[in-house]
Amino acid sequence: MNSQDWPYLVEPMRPEDIPAVMVIERMVYSRPWPAEAYRYELAENPKSHYYVARLKDYRPRREAGLKGALKRAFGSAESDESLLGYGGLWLMVDEAHVSTLAVHSDWQGRGVGALLLATLIDKAVELQAAFVTLEVRVSNLRAQTLYERYGFRKVGVRRKYYSDNNEDAFIMSTEAIDSPGYLANLEALRAGLDARLRASPARKEE
Ligand SMILES: CC(C)(COP(=O)(O)OP(=O)(O)OC[C@H]1O[C@@H](n2cnc3c(N)ncnc32)[C@H](O)[C@@H]1OP(=O)(O)O)[C@@H](O)C(=O)NCCC(=O)NCCS
Repeated sequence: MNSQDWPYLVEPMRPEDIPAVMVIERMVYSRPWPAEAYRYELAENPKSHYYVARLKDYRPRREAGLKGALKRAFGSAESDESLLGYGGLWLMVDEAHVSTLAVHSDWQGRGVGALLLATLIDKAVELQAAFVTLEVRVSNLRAQTLYERYGFRKVGVRRKYYSDNNEDAFIMSTEAIDSPGYLANLEALRAGLDARLRASPARKEE
């Protein structure tokens, strides 16, 4: 799901993206996955489909001083600040399960999360999954709002699912993603998202 008129683009996650993914992972999750988990997902899990969102016209800041010189000399994958977010799903029989969705905290609230989620749902449709599911912390109202907008409904609770604070997870699921109603709603959301992304600033607000 990409357009020339957006400041962002979405592409499949590559192993080179993992250091920048880990910067965001540690930033937004209290129990981050290790880099090894992403390496496994990309290289060995045939059921997984991962994407990253990038800023299109990214020009790296030229960091001054010794730190900048060392980074330029030796390269630092963590300096890939063009990577704004990522999401992934697992196809399990006829169920597409969103395994992760995260956006850099400086870039949240501009439609990047919705763009990634719409990409995952499109992939689920392409893979002929029957529906899409996920787990979300009961306290994560922002993510729940986004998921509900994309047709996910709370269908159950996993008690004490998150081991860091014993928080419960809501299990959320779409209806059948090939139903005319769901596809029509997705089309309408796509139009709204398109307008939102066209208007989205391509720079961080300082
Ligand atoms: C949850 C998360 C991925 C959302 O990403 P994001 O880029 O901030 O999300 P978006 O900008 O696309 O959507 C945010 C807002 O836009 C709204 N929105 C989404 N699609 C829209 C559309 N087509 N038109 C208008 N508004 C829309 C959302 O409902 C939401 O509303 P809010 O402003 O009240 O929060 C992000 O906050 C994040 O990384 N959080 C930490 C990690 C996490 O919690 N991940 C989810 C784990 S289950």
